[in-house]
This record gives sequence, C-alpha cells and structure tokens, in this order.
Amino acid sequence: MNQSLRFSGQSAIITGGASGLGAAIAARLKKEGADITVFDVPAAAGAVAAPDHFIAVDVADEASVAAGVAEVLQRRGRIDILINCAGITGKTDLKSHLVTVDDFDRVLAINVRGSFLTSKHVLPAMVSRGYGRILHISSIAGKEGNAGMLAYSTSKAAVIGLTKVQGKEYAESGITINALAPAVVATPMVAALPAEQVRYMTDKIPMKRCGTLEEVAAMAAFIVSGEASFTSGFTFDLTGGRAVY
Ligand SMILES: NC(=O)c1ccc[n+]([C@@H]2O[C@H](COP(=O)([O-])OP(=O)(O)OC[C@H]3O[C@@H](n4cnc5c(N)ncnc54)[C@H](O)[C@@H]3O)[C@@H](O)[C@H]2O)c1
Repeated sequence: MNQSLRFSGQSAIITGGASGLGAAIAARLKKEGADITVFDVPAAAGAVAAPDHFIAVDVADEASVAAGVAEVLQRRGRIDILINCAGITGKTDLKSHLVTVDDFDRVLAINVRGSFLTSKHVLPAMVSRGYGRILHISSIAGKEGNAGMLAYSTSKAAVIGLTKVQGKEYAESGITINALAPAVVATPMVAALPAEQVRYMTDKIPMKRCGTLEEVAAMAAFIVSGEASFTSGFTFDLTGGRAVY
C-alpha cells in the first residue's frame, strides 16, 4: 500500500474541521488522498482550506445534519469516514453549583447530540457499502473528570459510552467506530480557557507538555485508515502518559 495515499478515492466528513484538531486532521487526510467535506458553523466558512468542501451544519440540529449528509452523498456518492471534532467547553473554572442549565444543555447538545446525529445519519450509507470509519473526539476529561469542567467532562464521558455501544452494534458490518481522548492540545478552544484551568490540566500530564496537532492528526489518520480494522468501540489515548488504561 502506498502509505502517502492511503485515503485515495475516499470521502471524509470532518465536523468542526474549520479549526484546531479538525483542521489538522483534515489537512492530514487530504494530503493522503481523501476528499474532505467540513461541517462547521456558518461563520467558519472562510477559515476552511481550499479545496475542501464546506457545508454550514449545526451538528446539534437534526435537520441541518441530515441535509449536510444528503449533500455529501449527492456530490461524492459515498462516505467512508466521519470524524467528529465539533465541540465546545462551555463555561469552565467553576464548581457544579454554579453551572447554569443553559450552559450544561448547550455543551451536551453540541458534544453529545452532535456525535449521535452525525453518526446516525452517515451510518446507513456506510452499512449499505459494507465499509466505514467513524471517530468521535472525546477527551481525557471524559475518563478522569476535570474539576471546573462539569458539563464538558460529562459530555465527553457520554461520547465514550456512545462509542462503546456503536462499536458493538456495527462490529460485523465492516465499520469501526472509535473515540480518541486527548489531553491538552494548543488550539483556539484552549486559548479561550482561563489560564488557571489550562494549568490544572497541563500539570497532570507526565510529559509536562501539551500534545501537538501533528500528534493528533497522525493518530486520527491511523484510526480511520483501512489498516485499523480489528479495533472498535475503543477510546484511544493521547495524553502524554496521563491515562494508562
Ligand atoms: N484542544 C484540546 O486540548 C482538546 C483536548 C481534548 C479534546 N478536544 C476536543 O477536540 C474537539 C476539537 O477541539 P479544538 O480544540 O480543535 O476546538 P476548536 O474550538 O479549535 O474547534 C472546534 C470547532 O467546532 C466548531 N463547532 C462548534 N459548535 C459547532 C456546531 N454546533 N456545529 C458545527 N461545528 C461546531 C467550531 O466552529 C470550531 O471550528 C472538541 O470536541 C474538543 O472537545 C480538544
């Protein structure tokens, strides 16, 4: 297999692909031959690298997701890969009794409902072709629980649960469904967090540094490649030694 073109002829949807982890993963898959469609909020359109195809999709809204998926199928005829990078932290650095219901609901709607809706709507096309790779971006916060990040940690734990179920449900269909749980990676999302919250998270990393976008993209590309064919329902680690199970 030509390693540099392992996604040749494949069609990939990357939610949240206009920024941070999603943009880095999109660039990596494109370099290796994939046709990329980014689902992101309308304001992000200008940030998407040409010649990626951009569709304004709110991942928390079912009609929006369904229309986006239908457009990809109409244009590309297939969906081989879905990577869910769309996500928000909500307000952080505050204890549970100070979290508002609105903030909690908004974080869960984007991080959890978004992962559910996008996978729900791409799965029929993957099942009918007998091949697919879905990767949900969770977080170490979902495994460990980061103090000050109730809604976010809860949402990322839910993504791990969703992945476990989906991995089993589609295990005999040629489709793998996994999650990735990174620790801190320098992106606009992290830059927007209070410094105290970032210090709390980074101090817990044994390698005493943030992960890089290149490290995220390399692992994500492996997980959604044809080579990664005997792992499903699993949450891959990317934490500089913080998680060891
Ligand atoms: N950066 C980190 O340290 C880190 C660590 C662990 C997990 N993660 C997860 O990785 C994912 C990407 O994070 P990032 O750091 O690249 O953040 P980011 O803010 O740089 O990118 C997130 C993208 O999601 C998009 N988005 C937000 N709401 C959306 C919606 N309703 N519909 C469609 N798109 C929407 C944003 O416009 C943005 O382009 C998130 O799920 C995040 O929780 C990040």
